[in-house]
Amino acid sequence: MKAKVVVTDQAFGGTLAERAVAERHDAEFAEFQCATEAETVAAVAGAHVVFVNLAPVTRAVLERMAPGATVIRYGVGYDNVDVRAAGELGISVANVPDYGSETVADHTVALLLSSLRKLSVYDSRIREDGWIKPPGLGTLRGFGDTTVGLIGTGRIGFSVAKRLMPFGFRIIAHDPWAPAGALTAFGIESVELDDLLSRSHAVSLHCPLTPNTHHLIDDAALARMSAGAVLINTSRGGLVDEDALVRALKSGRLSAVGLDVFSQEPLPPESPLRALDQVTLTPHSAFYSAHSVEQLQLLAAEEADRALGGRRLRSPVSA
Ligand code: NAI
Repeated sequence: MKAKVVVTDQAFGGTLAERAVAERHDAEFAEFQCATEAETVAAVAGAHVVFVNLAPVTRAVLERMAPGATVIRYGVGYDNVDVRAAGELGISVANVPDYGSETVADHTVALLLSSLRKLSVYDSRIREDGWIKPPGLGTLRGFGDTTVGLIGTGRIGFSVAKRLMPFGFRIIAHDPWAPAGALTAFGIESVELDDLLSRSHAVSLHCPLTPNTHHLIDDAALARMSAGAVLINTSRGGLVDEDALVRALKSGRLSAVGLDVFSQEPLPPESPLRALDQVTLTPHSAFYSAHSVEQLQLLAAEEADRALGGRRLRSPVSA
């Protein structure tokens, strides 16, 4: 019987590398744009290798795959895959941890610098009101007087720190698993979360979404942040309680926010975030550059090659 390779959903334009690996193993190939669990359940029936971007890979989805199948998540975060259920069902899961950290860091820094300089608000005041005098938005802090707090200092968090250093920011970080020595050697002060929230003028999120980090930034966390602080999230929408975020923006607790990720994607038309010009919105595009997308698909296809060839996976993940 022929093996079956399925792409449940993708956001890259084409699937040349994935098709090529299926062909090399004489496997069937099918591609979908699943958004719901029901669509994904139908798409993966009998699949031996499943490439997934954002589709929900629940227990019901995993149960429809061929025994011993492999799920390859296009990207770093695998919070849309029920990894525990996969383990119980004997299905392997792999991610692609290293295709584009630098691109995500570029995007994060672009959002951070723009938010600190209030570019989106100046832009909309000029378009809507004709002009605005600079003090109209209150005092702006110079980069050299600004403390940035990074939550998570893995590949992306650390790359963000490297980019921010030359601007003169003071950088503090919270990451329970980062070796403090490595951070200190680079001039980053390692602190507890509460300390980071109260001392930072800007906070940027770079930890994974897990049951422990869900709504890490809620009303209580926002209340600890300094008045007029900036928040950047290019990690996962579920890290932030969006209702609390809107309250903090309306009260002035936060002065600007940059978001690439949302609790629901695409962002619902009725989301109050759309109406706030202190918020810069990007469509889960932090990973996106010509080089990173090419790398992502090549590395994912190489992992599929290993799975179809019965070899050990490069980047397996487990619960
Ligand atoms: P990584 O695994 O290299 O680093 C994550 C870091 O978070 C680790 O050092 C870990 O110790 C730390 N961490 C875990 N729990 C924490 C907690 N409770 N508090 C503070 N730190 C904690 O992952 P990487 O490559 O840096 O990616 C980070 C996240 O970025 C991913 O989980 C993914 O959700 C997101 N991402 C978003 C993209 C986008 O296009 N917007 C693209 C790629 C990744």
